Amino acid sequence: MQRVALVNETDWEGWRKATRSLILAGVAPEDVRWSVSSDGEDRHPLPEGHGSFGVSRSLVALASLAIQARDASRFDLLYRLVWRANAGEGVLQKTDDETVRQVQRLAFAVRAETHRMRTMLRYLPVPEKDRTRYLGWYEPAHYVLEANAQLIARQFSGLTFSILTPDGGAHWDNAELRFSAGVARRTVPDDEALLSWWRAHHERLLRHARIGTAIPEAEQLDEVPRPPDRAPVGPVVLPLRPDGPLHEAMQEASDCRRCALYGPATQTVFGEGPAHASVLFVGEQPGDQEDVIGRPFVGPAGQIMDRAMEEAGIDRRTVYITNAVKHFKFEPRGKRRIHKTPEAPEIQACRFWLDVELIRLRPKLVVAMGGTAARALLGRAVTVTRERGRPIELPDGQTAFVTVHPSFLLRVPDEDATAREYRAFVADLRTVAGLVD
Ligand code: URA
Repeated sequence: MQRVALVNETDWEGWRKATRSLILAGVAPEDVRWSVSSDGEDRHPLPEGHGSFGVSRSLVALASLAIQARDASRFDLLYRLVWRANAGEGVLQKTDDETVRQVQRLAFAVRAETHRMRTMLRYLPVPEKDRTRYLGWYEPAHYVLEANAQLIARQFSGLTFSILTPDGGAHWDNAELRFSAGVARRTVPDDEALLSWWRAHHERLLRHARIGTAIPEAEQLDEVPRPPDRAPVGPVVLPLRPDGPLHEAMQEASDCRRCALYGPATQTVFGEGPAHASVLFVGEQPGDQEDVIGRPFVGPAGQIMDRAMEEAGIDRRTVYITNAVKHFKFEPRGKRRIHKTPEAPEIQACRFWLDVELIRLRPKLVVAMGGTAARALLGRAVTVTRERGRPIELPDGQTAFVTVHPSFLLRVPDEDATAREYRAFVADLRTVAGLVD
């Protein structure tokens, strides 16, 4: 049995190096035991392999996300995938394969947590000799601190910040990114305790902090909520309460520039509905009328959806309705504005806001209407006809349900087919109602 002890939970370089040696030496996944040992114990020499091999960029990107999952089996699962890829298998095409699905689930959960951390993180300004340090506290569900800190440091290179978590701390001083030991939650139960703990311990903490990390930034992408430029008046809530008011997020979203769609659109169309709704419906993007009125599903697709909901016994006023993309994407044609389907980068950019809504509402069920919504939610291309009508568990424990988009019913060419598709849509909505009863 070959034992491999990595130096920390996100030891990407260690895992890569070991994987390379083990593959080249022909050590099968069943014969490898992976562990993490930060004190250097449990080290074992790696076998010497000869030759070289490479894996696809998409597998590297997937692995660099999945390795951040808080799941002890991840090193082994990833090694299994690389082993099979090296044997010539197109593993990533095998979306029904259990190992591939497990790794994709982990990567999806990491991506969601990465966004969540950026959404939740708020900073306390701490005056230092010649600058202000922004001090943040967060308890990540996965090991996303290092990759997120790299991104935040790059984006706000002119600022100084420290982010503390139970897993570790990240410190950026405008030149170097360093990592320190974690801090237990009970030590810093609120802002005041966090501040006084920081004042008492930061010198020692920073003295022992180690430099750098090398988790590739594949897919770590997009914007980070900016630390405040000046000290806010009064206490900063740390972290922002997950059940905090949605109107706060709505307010922030009204200024969103995460992708180029804000330019031609009239306004951001945020979701609407009660904050305690147990079902959250997701459409594609606002249409022409929604863009002008500023509310989701008020045009023709909304009318057909309302009718179907009523028939299925769902009161629209009790559910939360939103879109995967919050700006109307269109092509001007004369006086008309013709709907254009949003593309993957736009969906990805807007996932930030969908995450905010999902985290704040924690609905029992999330209903994706149509391919764009399903893609935003599941993080992969979805064939609606194949996956509609049944609960699908999401990696973060929420449950999704896929159905058609109501505007599909407006495009069905003949009457019989329209009636049939409408009945199927109502049947899906009845299943939705049954699932949350
Ligand atoms: N189509 C959608 O997906 N959302 C709307 O809000 C309107 C039409």
